[in-house]
Amino acid sequence: MRFVHGRRTPRTLCLVLLLLLFSSVAYAGHGEASAAKKGILLVAFGTSEPAAQVSFTHLGEEVGKRLPGTPVRWAYTSNIIRRKLAKQGQVYDSVPIALSKMIDEGFTHIAVQSLHTIPGEEFHEKLLRVVKGFRSMAQISVGAPLMATPQDMEAVVKAIKATIPADRKASEAVVLMGHGTHHPGNIYYPGLQWYLSKAAPLVYVGTVEGTPSLDDVLAGLKANKVKKVWLMPFMSVAGDHARNDMAGPEDDSWISILTAKGYKTEAVLKGTAEYDVYSTIWIDHLQSAFERLN
Ligand code: CO
Repeated sequence: MRFVHGRRTPRTLCLVLLLLLFSSVAYAGHGEASAAKKGILLVAFGTSEPAAQVSFTHLGEEVGKRLPGTPVRWAYTSNIIRRKLAKQGQVYDSVPIALSKMIDEGFTHIAVQSLHTIPGEEFHEKLLRVVKGFRSMAQISVGAPLMATPQDMEAVVKAIKATIPADRKASEAVVLMGHGTHHPGNIYYPGLQWYLSKAAPLVYVGTVEGTPSLDDVLAGLKANKVKKVWLMPFMSVAGDHARNDMAGPEDDSWISILTAKGYKTEAVLKGTAEYDVYSTIWIDHLQSAFERLN
């Protein structure tokens, strides 16, 4: 028995090895599971304003320069914007649709970069939560929005200072229009104001939907006896909010309110993502997300 057993074991082993060899050949023959395919998914809120698209075009070009040869896909987190654009024949994917398509195309490693300004509802609910659901199907790393860490705050303050028009005099104020939100992530706006108050005198950040409000900004302008105000969007795109709520002709736009209060005004219609000093911050986050893929 022992002798027979001793003879049979190597034969069984050979068979097992042979089977393993065949199965690995068959596996390699299909070639899907063995080859890593890396890609990038850029995720923005979106814009329906054709002129604001320059921001995303610029970001896409800069991503191509930093990580050449890596396929790049796009998704918009705003369903309202996506539906509006779809009616005009422009189809943009949501994050779940974009990730499904990428996995279907065979991507095994995906770096998802948020092009939002703060980690708010769009980032947490429409991006991060969706990514968690897809993690059993591909390796996915996520790059943080523009403002996430204390280093980001310092880089953003530098970017703000670098993009203020050269014609602005030191006695003149700069008012940045941020979006703002009911989400706890809104805290990044008053946080930014704290950094600005130390490094950039008379530069204020107000928000459309959160804190600080325009009233908070007006109180600062009054206290500092400011006479002229430069208005700039603090959003990736100079879209609807910048063109209408900030610089539009209606009575309730920021420029109209400031003018009615006797301030001289000047508006700049450029989104933050149009400038290299800002796009670099997002792309630094993307690069570290990309390097986390293995
Ligand atoms: Co809005």
